[in-house]
Order: sequence, then C-alpha cells, then structure tokens
Amino acid sequence: MKKICFVCLGNICRSPMAEFIMKDLIKKDNTIHIEVTSAGTSGYHDGEDMHVKTKEQLKKASIQANGFISKKLTQTMCDNNDYIIVMDNSNFNNVLKDFKNIENKILKLTQFAKELNYNEVPDPWFTHNFDETYKIISLACNNLLSFLKT
Ligand code: 4NP
Repeated sequence: MKKICFVCLGNICRSPMAEFIMKDLIKKDNTIHIEVTSAGTSGYHDGEDMHVKTKEQLKKASIQANGFISKKLTQTMCDNNDYIIVMDNSNFNNVLKDFKNIENKILKLTQFAKELNYNEVPDPWFTHNFDETYKIISLACNNLLSFLKT
C-alpha cells in the first residue's frame, strides 16, 4: 500500500486541506488504498485542529474534516512515506535541509496542476483566499490520484 504525506508550514491550512480532499477522493474511487497524512515544517500549531476556514471550505464541498490534529514533520514520517508532497518552495527547501533520504520522494503539489500555472500553492494564512487554494489543491489531488494509480 502506498503512503503519502502532505506538508506545508503550519499544518493547519493547506496540507490538512489536501489530506482530507485526497482521503475523500480515495474513498469515492474505491479501487485503490492509499494511506494519507499531513504535517508542518514549523510545529507552530502542534496539537491544534485545522484552521476554521479550512474546515469551512471542506464542509462546503461535503468533505469530512473531523479528527484532525496538527503535527510537525519528523524523520520517521519521512522514512515511512513513499511521497512527501509539499506546497511551496520554502517547504521544499526546508524539508531537504532538515531531513535525510528524502531526495527521491519529495514532490511539489503544483506539478500535478500544471494547467493552472502556479509554481506554489498560495498560503491562505497570508492571502486569506481559501477558495483559490482549494481550487488548486482539488485539481492537483485528482491528478495525483491518477499518478498514484500508475
Ligand atoms: P499553512 O498556513 O502552512 O498552509 O498551514 C500557515 C498557517 C500558520 C502559519 C503560517 C502558515 N503561522 O505562521 O502560524
């Protein structure tokens, strides 16, 4: 079984959004079992629930968003996952700097949404635009699921 971990800075906005969108797609697809988690590079919000607006965005799309606890990325999580999928260039550089044996499993989520022409998933903590972030993550997760099936 494949295992993936989405990573952002705070693990309360983008990576939990990706985690729960992906879990929903996998559940609906019904042909593939993938273990999905998420984590942050900072640990700023360890132990907290996701951002209230992330939760609202998921609920609006009828995606289950309960039982989440924010956590910091660890070496064990890197070792135990097949792919570490980051949201932006800063996440990418920090993960490469802080963890070993990661070069072959780190991916940027925007590479699965090339048609939208984003180099990074914008951080709604700063942009306040959760709709824009949702649109990119949702499309990218659909394409990521196809990639994981090959
Ligand atoms: P995220 O957004 O990385 O998408 O979860 C952020 C959440 C919190 C902070 C930064 C980014 N913060 O500085 O607390």
